[in-house]
Amino acid sequence: MGPSVQQTVVRMAQGYQLSQALYVAAELGVADALAAGPLDAHALAGAVGARADELARVVRALVTSGVFTETDDGAFALNDAAACLRRDAPGDTRAIVVDFGTEMYHAFGELLHTVRTGQPGFEALYGQPLFDHYTAHPDAEARGSARMRARSLLVAQDLAAAPLFDEAGIVVDVGGGIGTVLTAVLQAHPALSGVLYERTPVARLAGPYLAEHGLDDRCRIVEGDFFAQVPDGGDVYLLKSVLHDWDDDRCRTVLARCRAAMSPHARLVIVEIVLPDHTTDDPDLVPGALLDLIMLVYAGGRERTRSEFAGLLDATGFRLHGTTPLPSGPHLIEAHAR
Ligand SMILES: C[S@@+](CC[C@H](N)C(=O)[O-])C[C@H]1O[C@@H](n2cnc3c(N)ncnc32)[C@H](O)[C@@H]1O
Repeated sequence: MGPSVQQTVVRMAQGYQLSQALYVAAELGVADALAAGPLDAHALAGAVGARADELARVVRALVTSGVFTETDDGAFALNDAAACLRRDAPGDTRAIVVDFGTEMYHAFGELLHTVRTGQPGFEALYGQPLFDHYTAHPDAEARGSARMRARSLLVAQDLAAAPLFDEAGIVVDVGGGIGTVLTAVLQAHPALSGVLYERTPVARLAGPYLAEHGLDDRCRIVEGDFFAQVPDGGDVYLLKSVLHDWDDDRCRTVLARCRAAMSPHARLVIVEIVLPDHTTDDPDLVPGALLDLIMLVYAGGRERTRSEFAGLLDATGFRLHGTTPLPSGPHLIEAHAR
């Protein structure tokens, strides 16, 4: 017999306890310490700089949820799920877990405040909007950028494989982060060159990232504010996971700046989750619904339906050309100048 409805609801309410246990393991580097083989609680605690009893209880809680295992003689070991938390694991899940467990975790404690007042929990707690806080706290910016990179890696591969860039010479990635998407796209299309448009602190992180991938001579980094202006001269303008950070007014400003920069032949490609018009308990809808809550609490933005995107585009001189779901989850939303 499965859990009762009461047990299911209580388990949901305990989600943050598991989330913090995962965060502690990721922050301490427990998976890295177990990479060479199982360790007992004392050896593990010594390796990560923690207390043996307390750490063992955290790891045991994770074992019951399928992350790490306990051997017959009481040592802890990696399994596939725990191996994802290693610093060198493909996909860098650790970066997501760590960022979810720090500012974001605390900001979610203000969700009730947000629902009552409309103020993002992040602003209520930290006294300033997300990106201002990031500018003032480079460590938080680096953590947020690492999470964003990890979340964008698969989508970047989907975009690189999409037939978007065949006739393009220059792609402008507006709010392109440290260059995760541009790197995949430029690697897949050797004749293409790129412009990465970003706030100064992220632009500075992007330089070394693009150089590391041998793309510094094919990609120009432009520092700026997309509410003020967007670089011109591109054939394709990318806005990936940018519009969902902002309310409708701010989105219309970014879109209008893109439209002003674009020549009549240029295309706009938005990559975002597209919410359904009607919500059900389909598990495929969970990532979008939770990302919508993150935007609510974190930045005052939102996820949107297809008709909401069409309305924003229509108001800013674009025509929605089509939406295509990507294998990794979000949709590719293509728009042309009207
Ligand atoms: C959610 S991240 C998306 C990053 C990247 N497009 C991706 O999907 O990996 C949003 C990005 O918008 C950038 N951004 C925020 N405000 C900006 C502004 N006013 N001008 C330019 N970029 C901005 C942030 O620095 C951040 O890197």
